[in-house]
Amino acid sequence: MHDHGGSMKPEVSFPFRLVSGFRPLKGLHLGHYAAVLTDLTRLQYMHERSAFIFIADHHARSRWNERADFANTERRAIETTRQLLAAGVDPDFSVIYRQSDVPEIFEVMWFLAGFALHSQMQHMQGLKGAAPSAGTYIYPLLMVADIIATQSTHVAVGQDQKQHLELSRDLARKLNRRLGEQFIPVPESARAEPTTVRGIDFADSNRKKMAFELGNEIPLFEDEDVVTERIENIVTQPVQFGHPLPAEGCNLLEFSSFLVGAEQMRDLRDKYASGKYGYADAKRDLRKAFFEVMGPARARYLTIHADDAAKVLDEGKIRARENIAHFIFRLRQELAISV
Ligand code: TRP
Repeated sequence: MHDHGGSMKPEVSFPFRLVSGFRPLKGLHLGHYAAVLTDLTRLQYMHERSAFIFIADHHARSRWNERADFANTERRAIETTRQLLAAGVDPDFSVIYRQSDVPEIFEVMWFLAGFALHSQMQHMQGLKGAAPSAGTYIYPLLMVADIIATQSTHVAVGQDQKQHLELSRDLARKLNRRLGEQFIPVPESARAEPTTVRGIDFADSNRKKMAFELGNEIPLFEDEDVVTERIENIVTQPVQFGHPLPAEGCNLLEFSSFLVGAEQMRDLRDKYASGKYGYADAKRDLRKAFFEVMGPARARYLTIHADDAAKVLDEGKIRARENIAHFIFRLRQELAISV
């Protein structure tokens, strides 16, 4: 079937497909906006069904502990869907689904488990904490299954997920070597370099997840006073009164760059250098930019209800399962499994 009968290998190109998953935790934040949402809401229109966007609820269930709060996962899945819709994910174009509604993903994961090496899994960053659960250990494989089962050519993720993306690429290549050169696309990052997002306290990406649990992010859809307080709490480098603010490594400036264009950033940098501009001014400007940019999405959010989100997920489930069932059919055929 994959003997192309000569030295010339045909270049098969896969249609562009972008996948991204969101764990239903505390809701979408500025990091999501900067690292993935702007790409998704733009690229979803590239062609028919070009974006597969899902609630990674089983990823939120990879470890039983107080933080995972299993009981609330379903409510949060609906809430995260509302937020995605408000942020501009368009259900007329994107396939929006709940991971747990597509059990076929687990079958794909199991086949992948046979390709992945134990040693590869042991090197995953998520395992750094004390006594990781087996779920934490398998977490990256489930993510690879999410990506490969949808036959995605591109993945929208932040820098913290880059290692998982590398694993997907590695396993996709292995699968292609075994099942024919062009069995599935080798997925790429949607951005040449995924965006790194730090918390408001300057936490680095390894600490990001924990910090995020501690309210270290700037939420997109929380009440105005919550957002304002988080912006107030952004940690800055100390500077003497009347001295220029250091632009290098400034968290505030980085958050601003997620919201305003190049010209406004130039103005901001000039203000930073002037010596007449303090952090209180910078926070006021950031707050203004946040509510200006997010205003329309925040207004839309109030008009989208839980029922609307549930309906979108029900429709997405059908499209996602249809697509993934087709992939499993091919996979089983290649592996000569008659089920
Ligand atoms: N692991 C990702 C996170 O923690 C969420 C995720 C799960 C994901 N499956 C995915 C992202 C597939 C992109 C593609 O943010």
